[in-house]
This record gives sequence, C-alpha cells and structure tokens, in this order.
Amino acid sequence: MKPGAGVTSSELGMHTLTEGRGLLFGGDYNPEQWPEEVWAEDARLMRAAGVNLVTVGVFSWARLEPEPGRRDFGWLDRVLDLMAEHGIAVDLATPTASPPPWLGHRWPETLPVDEGGHRLWYGSRNQFCPSSPVYRERALEIVTALADRYAGHPALALWHVGNELGEVCHCDVSAAAFRAWLRERYGDLGTLNEAWGTTFWSQGYGDWAEVVPPRRAPYLINPSQRLDWWRFCSDALLDHFRAERDVLRARTPGTPVTTNFMGLFKRVDYWSVAAEEDVVANDWYPEPGDPLAPARTALTHDLMRGLAGGRPWLLMEQSTSAVNWRPHNLPKPPGQFRLESLQALARGADGLCYFQWRASRFGAERFHAAMVPHAGADTRLHAAVRAHGQELRKLADLAGEPVPARVAMVFGWESWWALEERGRPSDRLNAVDQLLSYYVPFFERGVSVDVVPPAADLSAYALVVAPNLFLVSDEDAAGLTAYVRGGGVLVVGPFSGVVDPRAQVRTGRFPAPLREVLGASGEEWLPAPEDPPVRCRWTGGPENGAEDGAEFAARTWTELLTAEGAEVVAEFAGGDLDGRPAVTRHRASAGVAWYVATMPEPAALGALAGRVLADAGVSGLIPGLPEGVEAVRRGEVLFLLNHGGATVRVPIPHAAEDLLTGSPAEGHVTLAPRAVAALRP
Ligand code: GAL
Ligand code: ZN
Repeated sequence: MKPGAGVTSSELGMHTLTEGRGLLFGGDYNPEQWPEEVWAEDARLMRAAGVNLVTVGVFSWARLEPEPGRRDFGWLDRVLDLMAEHGIAVDLATPTASPPPWLGHRWPETLPVDEGGHRLWYGSRNQFCPSSPVYRERALEIVTALADRYAGHPALALWHVGNELGEVCHCDVSAAAFRAWLRERYGDLGTLNEAWGTTFWSQGYGDWAEVVPPRRAPYLINPSQRLDWWRFCSDALLDHFRAERDVLRARTPGTPVTTNFMGLFKRVDYWSVAAEEDVVANDWYPEPGDPLAPARTALTHDLMRGLAGGRPWLLMEQSTSAVNWRPHNLPKPPGQFRLESLQALARGADGLCYFQWRASRFGAERFHAAMVPHAGADTRLHAAVRAHGQELRKLADLAGEPVPARVAMVFGWESWWALEERGRPSDRLNAVDQLLSYYVPFFERGVSVDVVPPAADLSAYALVVAPNLFLVSDEDAAGLTAYVRGGGVLVVGPFSGVVDPRAQVRTGRFPAPLREVLGASGEEWLPAPEDPPVRCRWTGGPENGAEDGAEFAARTWTELLTAEGAEVVAEFAGGDLDGRPAVTRHRASAGVAWYVATMPEPAALGALAGRVLADAGVSGLIPGLPEGVEAVRRGEVLFLLNHGGATVRVPIPHAAEDLLTGSPAEGHVTLAPRAVAALRP
C-alpha cells in the first residue's frame, strides 16, 4: 500500500525496534505494584519466556512525582537498569494518562466535565481535561524530566505517550479552546452560522462568547455543531500528543514515539494521529463469545497496517485470557491467545505484547488475566506464554515483511462522526457495522484487504470498497471518480455521498457527487421494517454468480433508485419498490462502479463480493477455503489459522515448510481447532 493522506512518513519505525531483536514479545510491566524482591524474579521469568520488550511507567505519575515538583525517579532507574541487564528493551510511557490526586485536588479545573456539567473525579484514571493549560504544563514538565533522565539509557527503545488517548471535556476552558478552534476554521461568526445552519431553530450566534460545546440540551443538538465538536476533541488530543512527542523528540531524536490505539475507536481520528507518530500501536481485546471476532479482529489489524502506511505495527496490548471489564468475562481456551497473536503477526504486526506481565493483586484490574497469573509461573497459562515467546523466534524473519493486498476499504472518522447523529433516517445503519459486513466476505475468501482513508491514493488497488461514505468531500468524491475512470472497480454502500463536510445535505439526486460515476441516482431513503425482511432478486443473468431471478433477503434499508446508464444487477422484489434497482453496476470509462442501495444478508453480500472480485480480477489465496479458516499471506509465508470448532483439511497451492512445526507440507494441511500453519514455499 502506498502512503496516502494521513499516513506516517517518519524514518523511525518498527524496524528501529526489531533490528537486532527480531519480533517483539512482552507486555505492560507495572513493577510499582510490587516489592523490589519480585522484580528479580520478573526479569528472570521474562528472559525464560523470550520477552524482549516491556512497557513501563504507564500509570506511575504519583510514584514519580508524589507532590508537585518533588520527583522520585530512583525506583524507575533500578527498573530500567534491571531490564537493560537482562537485555529487555523498554517502551517507556509518559505517565500522563492518570494524573496524581494532587493535581485534581489543587487544580480542580484540570478534572474533566461531562456533557451534563458534572466534574469527573480522581480515584480511577483518565481524569484530565485535554485543553487545561494547568494539566498540559504539569504533564509536559514530568515528560521533560523523564526524557532528560532516560535519554541515552540502554534500555530505552520506544516512547509511549499517555495511554489510549480518548478523553473529552465540556468545561469552560474546553469551550474557550473550542471557540479558538472554530475561529481558526471559519474566521468569522457569519461563516460559522452558515456552516452550522443556525437559522434552524433560532440558533444564530451573535457573539463568539455564546458558542459552547454541545452540552446536555432539551432536545436534539445541531449536527453540524456536533461534527465540529468531534473534530475539535480529536484535534485537542492530537495536539496534546504532539506536545509530548515534541519534548521527547527534541531529547531523544533516535527513539521512536508511539501511543496506543483502541481499534475502531470513535473519538479520535486515528488517521491524524498515525501521521504524527513513528510507530502505530494498538490494544485489542476480542470478545471470546463473539462469532464475528476473527473477522472483526482481522479488520482491526488491517486498519492498523493501513494507519502505518502498509508498514509493520505493534500489538501493544492483548490478553492471555479473560479481561475483567465486561459484565461476564469468558476466558480463552488453551491455544486461543497464541492463535490471536499469530493472527496479528500474519496481518503485519512485528510485536505481540500483552496487558500485563504480572496480574495485579489490588486495584480495579485484579481479575484481569496476565502473562504471570496470581497462581504464579508454575501454571499452564504461563507455560503457554513461555512456549509462545519461544516459538516466535522461528518466525523472526517475518519482521518487516509486507502483507500484499489488492483490495482497499475506505474508512474515515469524519464520515463516521457525521453519520451517527440522532435524527437520521435510521440508527440501524452504522459505520463500523457496515464496514465489517462488507469486510467479512473478503475475509472468508482469503482476500487481503487494506483499510485506507478517503483521501488515499487508490491507484495501486484493483478493487476499492466504500461500505458507507455518508460524508464525502468534493475532492474525495473526485478521487474515487478518477480511480474508476482510470480502470478501478469501486463499490459504494447505501446512504453515501449524502452530506458535505459541514454535515449539510447535498441537494439534488443522491449520491450527488458520485451520481455520474455510479450511473444511478436516488430520490428517497427508505428505512424498512425488519420483519418481513426486504426481498431482492438478481437480474443481471448468470454472470452475477447467482441465478437470474433468484431471490435474496436484505434488511433495514432501501432507496428509491433509478439507473442512469448502470445495469441493474439486483432489484427489489415486492412492495412499493418492486422492480426498482437495489444493486447497480456501471461501466465508466475504463473502470466499473457498483452501488448497493440496501443491506444484503451475508450470503448475498458474499455473492456480490464474488462478482466484484471477478470484475477486478482478484481471487482468494485458496479456492474453497474451509469455513472458519483464515488465509493470509505475509511476505512469502502463507498463514492458515483455524478459528472454527472442527478439524479441517486445507488444500495448499504449493509444497511448503511449516515454520511452526518444521515439517514439510504438500497438497494439504490438517488443522485442529485453533491450530495455525505458517507455510513457506
Ligand atoms: C487497556 C488499557 C490497560 C488496561 C487494559 C485492560 O485499555 O490500556 O491499561 O486497562 O485495557 O484490558
Ligand atoms: Zn475541560
């Protein structure tokens, strides 16, 4: 994948870390929770398990600075020295995700305020206002002290800014920062009023001082105001990230800087953050009971690879077994965490780390699984951790290898924010659900997908899928159009091209900016009852991969569409829309553009995926991939991962060596549940 907009161009990256170390393996290490006697055992066990990277200091601000300005770094010196002695690299965190109680106690204005005007207290974590100058100042002071002290320390390999940036604050300080941000964007109040459409419901602003964050209000809030608020909150965190990063870069220019993402996390536009960091890192906790977890996880990994511009990324946190923050926390069966780790590796991760090294005895995460459980190291769980750490050495050559993909899925935060506002035709059409439903058929066919931002350079892809682009800018729409005209195959999902970047509806037939390239347009969005489901029938003849006239079910959403040059591939069957287009396909110059005006059930989306892949000349890695098996290629290694409950025989395209077992394979491999093969030709 070519770096597009929003993709890092830094010279530092995962390779800075893996050079000389191979794949990274380790986890969050919180020695401040343990007496020093335990540290020596930790270091010994880490070595035995092949741990070569630990994240230290994430929540240690109160330990490092017990009262304002009084610092205690001695214990951290000893931790870093110990790690260096054992050849374990340190991902040193700035402790700014959890300010000490003294900050909120002395400066309550640093505590965040929710939409209803309530301050959130300390006693947990994340209690800070991203726009608070007092918080910023104190945060940068401790970051500076940390960087000054550990610059050049042999253990220091990576900086970890804060933790899972995601705080939002509605206080007066944030309101002032929001106004400053809006002034920057719109210049004057007249332009703001126009952008927000404030003639609606008497919302016209006469003075900047009247402009506030979207706070709890009697009824629906202005969607354009809300969209700008999402943008502002994301930018505030980005700004905070940058401020810390700049302090770190100035003192340790050769040490990469990262922060840990949370997958498809709504509050922060990760394209914007990824562009500013050296290493993309993610925290990912699949729900053991979710049947879609393997696909959802693959999608998230592909997003991380996209954020990294196709380069390797770091799985910063995952769990060896149950988490403790769901209402009912299913454990992972033996073999599961290994399978998940290898899945991330197969999809471009060069580091597989866990939360956390040693299970906490106290605090809110006492019941979260770890690499060393409460029962100690002489346990089946720790034995599995050790075995996994050691087996990763067999795959060391994969570090730095790319995951080739000819299909891209377009996903952007602005459209996500704009779509999921109250007051839309249906709150059952959501950005991530749409993305996942379109991703699944490709996942099931062993077709690799890159996730890219709407402004990406698409020219390298044979197929581009935009499951939902509710908000699209003129430039991005032009980019998609040019991609098709240049020979690409594009698929656009329902309720796309609806609003402009101000969240104002584009008038005329929809999707206005894509109408021409799609050769079809609509005039009504028509949410449908769930029962009975929407019926559609294939109309485009046998080349659609489905029998002409065969029906399929769809749900939730329909549109009143007219073909304007496009062929109708499927039409609605029965009801008011009987015979009107449901799926269209348009040859536009050298390319093909598809539009899907409903939400087809999975089998129909699968048939559609087959058809568009044929248009694009792309096929899966293994024809007839058995159900439950994931196939993905990294470098020259073909990974086969069995997420299903049955032992399966998987045909393989060429004779190979399984790097995990060292055995040769020819014709097929047999995979028990949770088994993985890493096949090198
Ligand atoms: C992450 C967080 C960690 C820990 C973990 C538990 O969100 O970064 O500090 O809380 O979840 O699953
Ligand atoms: Zn605030």
